[in-house]
Amino acid sequence: MATIIDGKAVSAAVRAEVAKEVEELKTKGITPGLAVIIVGDDPASRVYVNNKKKACAEAGIYSEEFALPADTTQEELLALVASLNGRSDINGILCQLPLPKGLSDKDVIEAISPSKDVDAFHAQNVGNIMIGDYHFLPCTPAGVMELLHRAGVEVAGKRCVVIGRSNIVGKPMAMLLLHENGTVTVCHSRTQDLAAVCREADILVAAVGKAKFVTADMVKPGAAVIDVGMNRDENGKLCGDVDYAAVEPIAGYITPVPGGVGPMTIAMLLKNTLMAAKMQNALLMK
Ligand code: GUN
Repeated sequence: MATIIDGKAVSAAVRAEVAKEVEELKTKGITPGLAVIIVGDDPASRVYVNNKKKACAEAGIYSEEFALPADTTQEELLALVASLNGRSDINGILCQLPLPKGLSDKDVIEAISPSKDVDAFHAQNVGNIMIGDYHFLPCTPAGVMELLHRAGVEVAGKRCVVIGRSNIVGKPMAMLLLHENGTVTVCHSRTQDLAAVCREADILVAAVGKAKFVTADMVKPGAAVIDVGMNRDENGKLCGDVDYAAVEPIAGYITPVPGGVGPMTIAMLLKNTLMAAKMQNALLMK
C-alpha cells in the first residue's frame, strides 16, 4: 500500500503561503498582477484559464484576461504581448498553449519579457534553469518537486526516471531532479526496454500523455510514482499516465489523478507571479 500524496492539500498549503505574502506586499503598496492570454475557444484551455483566474483572486493577485478570437494574427498577438511587457501593473504574462493553427507558440514565448515569463518557457529562463541560477521554475516540474519535498521523499542519490522529454515537463523535470542530486534518466518513445529502465527508478515521473501507460511491471517496489498525465480512459473517465489500481499496491508513494500534480501547477504559477512582482519592485536581487 502506497502513501497517497495529496496534491490538493499541498496546493492549498502553497496557495495559503502565497496569499499571506501577497497580503504583506500589499501593505507596501504592491499588488501582483497576472495577464492571462487565451486565443480561440479550446474547451480545455478555457477550463485551465478559468481555474488560473480563480486561484489568483483567492490569493489576492490581480488578474486580467485577454480572450482573443481564433483568427487573431501573429502581429496582433505580439502587439498585445509588447503592450503587457510595458505595463507596470502586470508582473506576469501567461499565454495559454497550444495556440490555434497559424500562430507560433515559440514566437509568442520569446516575445514575453523574461522577467514576466511566469511559465518559465522563455529560452533565457530555460537556460537559467539549466545552469541552476533561476527565480522562475516551470510550474509543473516545480509542483512535482514540492510534492516530493512535502511528502518527505529524498531525491539526493536516488535513481530518478522521467518518462517524456517535452520542453514543458520532461526536460525541466530532469534538470530539477539533477539539481537535487538525483541520478536522472530521461526515457522517450525510442527508449529500448523501457520497462527495465523504469524498474530501476526510486522516483518515477510519468509525463507521456498516454492513459495508464505505466503498468505494475514497470515499477520497483516502494518507488515514488508521480503521475503528470491527464487523460481519458476507455470509459471517458479522467485518468493519468499510470495504471493507478495496478501500481498503487506496489509503490511506496503515488500521486492520484485527479488531485495529484494537477492542482500544484496553478499553485506554482501563483508563486512565480508573486516572485515576479517582488523582482520587478526590486524587493529581491537578481
Ligand atoms: N498548456 C498546458 N499547460 C500549460 C502551462 O503550464 N502554461 C501554459 N501557458 N499553457 C499550457
